[in-house]
Amino acid sequence: MKTQKNLKGQVAIVTGADSGIGQAVAIAMGQAGAKVLINHIGQHDKADEVVKQITKAGGKAFEFHADVGNEREVQAMFAAVIKKYGRLDILVNNAGLQKDASLIDMTLDDWNTVINTNLTGQFLCSREAAKLFIEQGAEDGVSCAAGKIICMSSVHEVIPWAGHVNYAASKGGIGMFMKSIAQELAPHKIRVVGISPGAIQTPINQDAWETQKALDKLLTLIPYNRIGQPADIGKLAVWLASDDADYITGTSIFIDGGMTLYPGFADNG
Ligand code: NAI
Ligand code: BGC
Repeated sequence: MKTQKNLKGQVAIVTGADSGIGQAVAIAMGQAGAKVLINHIGQHDKADEVVKQITKAGGKAFEFHADVGNEREVQAMFAAVIKKYGRLDILVNNAGLQKDASLIDMTLDDWNTVINTNLTGQFLCSREAAKLFIEQGAEDGVSCAAGKIICMSSVHEVIPWAGHVNYAASKGGIGMFMKSIAQELAPHKIRVVGISPGAIQTPINQDAWETQKALDKLLTLIPYNRIGQPADIGKLAVWLASDDADYITGTSIFIDGGMTLYPGFADNG
């Protein structure tokens, strides 16, 4: 099948693009014709592999080390993409992590690290992207919008998660952050959308799928009866960034095999 180059001429930053979902999103955007900045926080070799995979397929990409929770490093990353490609059209706020503990055992450091990366990181990157998009405006022949911001959330934007309160609070926060900036930026022709994945097979949740026993337990929470793959999210991200989704802003797409359908109620509660 011929890949549609529906992001041709566009430039994307994907944060946390050296692993899991970010890697798949970066590769899918590269295949769709976008030039991509592959952000990472230290796994230089893995980021380099992603760059190679995109360039081997005829695309363009480069890697950039930056902690999304660090204002100075984030600003340097946006300066780097402009220096390299001269514009920016798409930001994918993907970087995220878990530091799980019960409430009474959770350290302030566990709390702050997760909020700083998952939520403050999205604020810092979105602010820099919005400044560029407003300055740039919508350009004929590139995209209907002046820019697109995709916020990686989670089903835990709405599903409470005992033992993971820092993570669930960060994702709940992303939901309202995404909607509020969508409202603020729409008059500038900037679209902001969320992606809320269910369980996707990546290193973040390895203990939930690495043994058959763990996987069977996980599948009781997924009516569609399979774990999600990073490529499922890659395809959705490309579509959301494309002009085919031009009238979508301020909402989050749940992509979860039915995890948010209260599967416990399937046989009468
Ligand atoms: P992953 O662990 O494979 O990837 C996370 C990426 O974020 C890594 O590349 C990591 O280096 C990067 N990262 C962490 N802290 C960073 C920082 N301070 N600055 C820059 N990069 C940083 O996990 P996965 O699953 O690919 O996660 C990606 C996003 O998807 C996260 O926001 C996660 O919360 C979200 N998500 C994942 C789901 C899953 O089931 N795998 C489901 C729902 C949401
Ligand atoms: C978490 C994963 C979990 C999934 C479904 C994600 O946000 O990062 O660890 O498997 O939600 O519960």
